Formats: sequence, C-alpha cells, structure tokens
Amino acid sequence: MSIFCSLRQLSVTYGRARNGAAALDGIDLDIVAGERLAIIGESGSGKSTLARALAGLLPEGAKVGGEMFWPELGHPPSAGRDFGFVFQDPGSSLNPVLTIGEQIAEGASRHLGLSWKQAYIRAEELLGRVRIPQPDRAMRAFPHQLSGGQRQRVAIAAAIAARPALLIADEATSALDVVVQAEILRLLDALVREDGMTLVFITHDIALASGFVDRIAVFRNARLVEAGPVRSVLSAPESDYTTALIASHRDLATPPLIAEVLP
Ligand SMILES: Nc1ncnc2c1ncn2[C@@H]1O[C@H](COP(=O)(O)OP(=O)(O)O)[C@@H](O)[C@H]1O
Ligand SMILES: [Mg+2]
Repeated sequence: MSIFCSLRQLSVTYGRARNGAAALDGIDLDIVAGERLAIIGESGSGKSTLARALAGLLPEGAKVGGEMFWPELGHPPSAGRDFGFVFQDPGSSLNPVLTIGEQIAEGASRHLGLSWKQAYIRAEELLGRVRIPQPDRAMRAFPHQLSGGQRQRVAIAAAIAARPALLIADEATSALDVVVQAEILRLLDALVREDGMTLVFITHDIALASGFVDRIAVFRNARLVEAGPVRSVLSAPESDYTTALIASHRDLATPPLIAEVLP
C-alpha cells in the first residue's frame, strides 16, 4: 500500500472569511494510491476547499498552513496532467463556445504532446469510452446541445484526457437525477478501475458514497471527524456525528443503493 498524498495539519483560511474562521483546520489524512476515498460532509464543511487545496487551485489570498506530501508523484500535481477535476456543474468546466471535440482534444494535445490530429482522434476515442452515442457527431456539437448527463460525461472525458493519476469528483453527480446519477457512477467506476486512477469522491451523501468507495473521511466544520474503511465507519462509527449521519439515511440499513446498480 503506497501513499499517494499525505496531509499533515493542513489548514486553509480564506482571506475574505469573516472572523478569520478556517475553512479547513488541522487536517491529517493520507490518500492511498489507487484507492477511492469519499470526502463526506454537509455544505460548508470544507470539502471543496480540500479538493482545491489538493489541486493547488485555492484562490489568491487563501492562507495555507501545514504540509502536503506527494510521494508517488514527487511533486505537487499539475492541473490537467496529474489530476482531473469533475465539478457538480459541467457548465463550469466546459467552454460554451468550443465544440466538444475541440475542448477534449485541447487537453490531450497540451498535456500529452500530441499533434492536433492525434489529439482529435484521442478525443473521439474518449467520447466512446464515456459512452457518448455517435462520438463522431458529438465531437462537432456544442455543450448546450447535450443533456446534463451527457455534458457530465464530456466533462469526465476532458478530465481524464491526459491520463491523470488522480481524479477529483466534487459533487459530480449531485445535480443529476437518480437514474443518470447511477449511470455516471457506473462510468466513473469503470474508468477508475481501467486506468488505475486514485479517486477522491466528494459528496454530501453518505449513502451514495458507501456503495462506491473504499474509504470514507467525514468532515464537519472544517475538521476531519473520522476516516476509515467504509465497512468499519458504517458499522462502528467513532463519532456521534457520523452515527447521526448514518441514521439519517434509511438506505444504509439495506444494501447500499449503488451496489444494486453497479455490475
Ligand atoms: N472563495 C472563498 N472565499 C471565502 N470563503 C470561502 C470561499 N470558498 C469557501 N469559503 C468558505 O469556506 C468554508 C468551506 O467551504 P467549502 O469548502 O466550499 O465547503 P463544502 O464544499 O463542504 O460545501 C465555508 O464556510 C465557505 O463559506
Ligand atoms: Mg463544495
């Protein structure tokens, strides 16, 4: 078991934060190479801040304390090449004025050093991998011509275009209806497995995560409440907060939602 990333006493305070409250406070957490780690917590608990800190995408003025180590990479990850980011709203990661093909090919050409033609071919392959029907036609489409679920597939294709070691999905399925959500999870499952990526799966929904990841880290008010393998966190949570979180999801009493959907 090798460590992909170690966080030691990681703290983040946004410059504009009223009363100087930290968005993350003293986080000690290891991310294991090849694992699927869920970051769970209610809105405002610091999940996206953690994602941005991992990705080196904190806004200017954010104060960062503590340390981050990247033993596998040997350096902080660089956007597009070492990690891919999938957001809740694919609109925020897709450019409305570029065709689907152009924006996926752009990442592949920049990070893999491919010619435009090679990158375009790779983009079409990627659309096939994320199971967009008729990839050749979709290449010429603009984001607004696709459904929300299809746009999220395209955003995933763009995120993995450069074969990143780390995929960060921040509420990537939260805006989708349940059926599409399950399809996107199934897709992420296949891609992560096939490419051996490390996955940081951020969600406010513990039931959603529990059938899908190896480990869970529970966040509350900028702090890490507990972290551990899914089964131990679900069956023997260390904190009352996690116990309450589990109790509030009826689904967890029965086999996890997603276990029924995944192959
Ligand atoms: N750019 C920002 N500037 C100031 N405060 C921010 C910024 N982004 C997030 N915050 C604050 O940091 C805290 C954690 O936010 P966030 O990481 O987005 O939580 P989550 O993703 O769990 O909902 C919240 O109190 C939020 O208001
Ligand atoms: Mg968030």
